[in-house]
Amino acid sequence: RRVLSVASECVPLIKTGGLADVAGALPAALAPHGWQMRVLMPAYAGITARGTRTPVWQNDNVFGGPARVVALRHAGLDMLLLEAPHLYDRRGGPYLGPDGYDHPDNPERFAALCWVAAEIARDGLSDGWRPELVHAHDWQGALVPAYLTYGDIPVPSVLTIHNIAFQGVTARDRIGALRLPEGAFNDGTLEYYGQISALKAGILLADRVTTVSPTYARELLRAEFGMGLQGVISARGAAMQGILNGIDETVWNPETDPGILPFSAKTLKAKAANRERLKGDFGLTDVPGPLAVVVSRMSWQKGLDLLPEVLDGFVARGGGLALLGAGDADIAAALSGVAARYPGRVALRTGYDEALPHRMFAGGDAVLVPSRFEPCGLTQMYGLRYGAVPVVAAVGGLADTVIHANKAALDAGCATGIVFTQVDALGLSQALDQLCNLYAQPGLFRAMQRAGMKQDMGWRRSAAAYARLYEDIAR
Ligand code: ADP
Ligand code: GLC
Repeated sequence: RRVLSVASECVPLIKTGGLADVAGALPAALAPHGWQMRVLMPAYAGITARGTRTPVWQNDNVFGGPARVVALRHAGLDMLLLEAPHLYDRRGGPYLGPDGYDHPDNPERFAALCWVAAEIARDGLSDGWRPELVHAHDWQGALVPAYLTYGDIPVPSVLTIHNIAFQGVTARDRIGALRLPEGAFNDGTLEYYGQISALKAGILLADRVTTVSPTYARELLRAEFGMGLQGVISARGAAMQGILNGIDETVWNPETDPGILPFSAKTLKAKAANRERLKGDFGLTDVPGPLAVVVSRMSWQKGLDLLPEVLDGFVARGGGLALLGAGDADIAAALSGVAARYPGRVALRTGYDEALPHRMFAGGDAVLVPSRFEPCGLTQMYGLRYGAVPVVAAVGGLADTVIHANKAALDAGCATGIVFTQVDALGLSQALDQLCNLYAQPGLFRAMQRAGMKQDMGWRRSAAAYARLYEDIAR
């Protein structure tokens, strides 16, 4: 059975966030269910993957220039790279130019990706491969169901929402340039407050819609989280479901991770040595209380702007913090201000680093994720796996993956972290207080670490859920 995955990023080729982890993990997770998944992604300038690139599709005019798709086997993945130099061969990242602003033609760049996916669904590739189903991700993939529908291409589609904050909204007058029919604007499918919304169209036109945790699926029905699309999501009723992300347990395994001093739930001993190393990495000196880590994009979503307000109290109680983040310059400036106030106790690294997070989860006593919303979240799961107790806001996938240390859960030995419901400075500082209290009781704390490390966070269960969904809609 054959499924085409359409994503704007995919590990290990390119990553700005968790979408890449998920797009890169799904093919291996679905293979045991009999689904061969090929991943269609733009051939951005930065992609240096070696290997033979076999042309499998071409067209003289893909949104203003010639384009071809090449097949490439890389790191166990069947990649299909869309080479369209006029759209993708440029400086900057996948979404932002070197100036930090969106590439102005992002709507066309990702519409082109979707349009090509639909063409492949209709005609297949020159190597004879044709998908029975298309699985598209986020707004960048959301026009696939639209091109399938308006092109009368009888191939079913699934749309997965990883983050509803990004909707692919663009001016109405670009409808022709996007190769979409006027009628679809007039009947409301594409129309969103006078503009075009790619995500809205995808939600309405995909055969099924999923998001990356059951709690986020419910939250999306509410105005506080739906970001204007709550009504559209409600309209899909049972066609919408939440399927929790997994983590790649071959990459994130403290027993075999080559970047750390290995340890397991049985022998947590080497965590202490990893902690020392981590202190060295960040220039932390004396941390008598819990050493917390944060690995995150810096954006309003992630709630890191709350940290400057709460660190005085945390540091006073002996806590320390090692933070790795990339993104918003204002948040970074505020955090480096606190780091300067507490040399040896709070340290910040900015930029993107592939290896450092492994050492951070291995050495950290806790991982903080104070997100205002979080569709799934991966770092709390990496923390669980590595014995870094998660301190998380009670939203989305965070609520679905961490068991709060209330008295009953602690007594039963099933608590894995601290979950706080009031996502503001007061809520976070109370959670950090509880972290300090638990850390001061080594027996209890170790029991929490062990319970987290034993939790099943692999892809097995979720892959089975996707496979069932595919069977339901594939003909
Ligand atoms: P989101 O996708 O919203 O950013 P997730 O928690 O789902 O949040 O995924 C974030 C992924 O990116 C995780 O794999 C995390 O380890 C990684 N990550 C975030 N920031 C950095 C960074 N500065 N350097 C390296 N990896 C990072
Ligand atoms: C998005 C979300 C994050 C989720 C990731 C992968 O980036 O912000 O919560 O884990 O997608 O699904």
